[in-house]
Amino acid sequence: MARLIFGVHTFVLIVIFSSLYQLIHSQSPSQLGEIINNVDQPTHGTLSPTRPTPATHPQPTLGRSSRNVTNLSMRVRRRRRAAMIREFLFEHNKIRAQLGERPLKWDKMLARYAERFANKRKSDCILMHSNTTIYGENVYRGEHYERHTAANAVRAWASESQFYHPLSNSCQPNQMCGHYTQIIWRNTKRLGCSRMKCNNGGVYIICDYDPPGNYRNESPFTTPLSVD
Ligand SMILES: *[C@@H]1O[C@H](CO)[C@@H](O)[C@H](O)[C@H]1NC(C)=O
Ligand SMILES: *[C@@H]1O[C@H](CO)[C@@H](O)[C@H](O)[C@H]1NC(C)=O
Ligand SMILES: *[C@@H]1O[C@H](CO)[C@@H](O)[C@H](O)[C@H]1NC(C)=O
Repeated sequence: MARLIFGVHTFVLIVIFSSLYQLIHSQSPSQLGEIINNVDQPTHGTLSPTRPTPATHPQPTLGRSSRNVTNLSMRVRRRRRAAMIREFLFEHNKIRAQLGERPLKWDKMLARYAERFANKRKSDCILMHSNTTIYGENVYRGEHYERHTAANAVRAWASESQFYHPLSNSCQPNQMCGHYTQIIWRNTKRLGCSRMKCNNGGVYIICDYDPPGNYRNESPFTTPLSVD
């Protein structure tokens, strides 16, 4: 678990990474082993089995005034969501582009998956994974929803690049690199994320990746760096 303290506001960001890692690494030790097993196991408390809210709502038919498109709250929400999607994509693909990796595409199914799980965290805001076995997954939590944007989450994950050694494909001891390597993973093509305001005013952010990255002893790069 990484705790980053920001300036005057000492709020805590906590990032943990892919349950895929847990899965893979529980089977055998890894070169990147030191970046796993640092996930606090939260006590579950009371998880309310909230039903997922669909990502987008169809425009309700308004009978004779069906041309009434002034449903402002709906339009604002759609616009915010579109902006959020662009932000998640931009932040990921900026980093990938620097390494010559192909951009990720937004995937509605992944986004629905992420949103469904984020909805379950609304009531407790606990930093935990969905424990998916088929996707890569990065999660993030912060206090004060407004202060933690999509970009903040992606940048926090990506800041692990400072601990990652591309030449040896290894992570500095007692640090995490898995969020970063998932972001840049060569074979990952699709992305779906959710940013949820918790009932306590905090934020829970989750991104799911397909195909998943972070395979043991594999380089994240298309063209592994060489020393020469
Ligand atoms: C259009 O929708 C708004 C709410 O979004 C409502 O206040 C208004 O009365 C509606 N107008 C008509 C003509 O139905
Ligand atoms: C406007 O959209 C919201 C959210 O979809 C919905 O709950 C509300 O009923 C809509 N209002 C009207 C007047 O259609
Ligand atoms: C995921 O696995 C961890 C560790 O086993 C567990 O603590 C957590 O509750 C699981 N998450 C879900 C959503 O079941």
